[in-house]
Amino acid sequence: MNHKQTFPEGFLWGGATAANQVEGGWKEGGKGISVSDCARAHFDTDVTNYKAHNAVTTKDIEAALATDDEVYYPKRHGSDFYHHYKEDIRLFAEMGFKVYRLSIAWSRIFPNGDEEVPNEEGLKFYDDVFDELHKYGIEPLVTMSHYEPPLNLVLNYKGWYSREVIGFFTRYVETICTRYKDKVKYWLTFNEVDSMIRHPYTTGGLIEDRFPGQNFEEVIFQAMHHQFVASAHATRICHEIIPGSLVGCMLTKLTYYPYTCKPEDVLKAQQTMRGTYCYSDTQVFGEYPAYLLSRFKNNGISIRKEAGDDEIMKSYPVDFVSFSYYNSSCAAEDTSNLNVTAGNTINAIKNPYLKASDWGWQIDPTGLRISMVDLYDRYRKPLFIVENGLGAADVVEEDGTIDDQYRIDYLREHMKAILDAIEEDGVDCLGYTSWGCIDLVSESTKQMSKRYGYIYVDCDDFGKGTYKRLKKKSFYWYKKVIETNGLSL
Ligand code: BG6
Repeated sequence: MNHKQTFPEGFLWGGATAANQVEGGWKEGGKGISVSDCARAHFDTDVTNYKAHNAVTTKDIEAALATDDEVYYPKRHGSDFYHHYKEDIRLFAEMGFKVYRLSIAWSRIFPNGDEEVPNEEGLKFYDDVFDELHKYGIEPLVTMSHYEPPLNLVLNYKGWYSREVIGFFTRYVETICTRYKDKVKYWLTFNEVDSMIRHPYTTGGLIEDRFPGQNFEEVIFQAMHHQFVASAHATRICHEIIPGSLVGCMLTKLTYYPYTCKPEDVLKAQQTMRGTYCYSDTQVFGEYPAYLLSRFKNNGISIRKEAGDDEIMKSYPVDFVSFSYYNSSCAAEDTSNLNVTAGNTINAIKNPYLKASDWGWQIDPTGLRISMVDLYDRYRKPLFIVENGLGAADVVEEDGTIDDQYRIDYLREHMKAILDAIEEDGVDCLGYTSWGCIDLVSESTKQMSKRYGYIYVDCDDFGKGTYKRLKKKSFYWYKKVIETNGLSL
């Protein structure tokens, strides 16, 4: 389709990051240690093997705590946004951002997670960041928890498996909502709330060897139940403290196609997608869907609930549905002779019709349109695309320029697909924040060289470099897209 339209008026264009990947300053300003500060890079393992990078044991944590090393623990330095935020926000403003998605590191506010009194220096840091954003008319979109539970909650409370963590989290939410009530209107509770099943440590603070003899799947679902209750409380708190605030869930949109039209493959694709829909279903409809309850029953999983849990979940569903989308995948009943490739937090069947990034993630703009239609038809709530982008190894030329045309191509096609979903399919979409608008440490591989940004950060996989910021070709391109509200696509 040849686009002549612009995006809807007021469409929120911007970019997204998370504290644990961009901030650095892991021990500064009174910050405590978070789970991500102990996430180790494995430079020697296959970058497309998600599992190999994210299996965390108690021994791994002990090793991490014994060192201040930042080479093998790259999230400790990130892109050093902690010291560069003014410059970074100025660059976002130069591109014309209307919104910037960031997360608050819980461990900056409550270093151990369980204190009664927050850390003033941490609160002040985000005050400064929000003030800087408002100076340029950029609206913050804040994720309350993006892979950043304080490590103390893992070691002394068994992470989100422990009921007490709900109370610690709600105290944290009350603190940040009260403090930032005049500065933040858009909130997300848990990043990729469905992801705990795929990386229990990062999302839930769960380490399998700490639950000897227990059904670990049951442990994960118990922890998820606590996050659902905590998320409903967070929505309640936001609405009470900040009238007019909007709170979203955040889902990993894992879109699967049937590998063939064989009904069994179609069923497999549907069931695989229900494997993530069940979490947004719970947060949008305020109750567990019947098919998730069947899964519990069939797998001998029983969840401990307390009086009032069902009511709070029912009373405080989310206001909008946000999601990440990077790639699509295939599903088949019999996978034995099929090729497998990587995707966001998964490995899945390869689609012969699609090209993939250097990390094996299959590029599929139409899949974004399909995802938007599916989500909107399912929920009838406004959508917000809060992550999308291409991880690529950029090259700085001798003259300092970076020609990332491949990123522009990726983004352009995805943005056109969004416009089609809005214009042709009637989807209500609040905005778009591309992932890693400034280069940051990759979640899956902990590499700096898997870059997503419009802004290059001079730092390599080992944390070496000047941390100088450079504008890539896509920087100028995105500026124009925003300036013309999409007409230049
Ligand atoms: C999402 C996460 O899953 O994908 C981000 O919310 C992450 O934290 C992003 O960075 C891209 O994945 P990766 O592994 O390329 O960093």
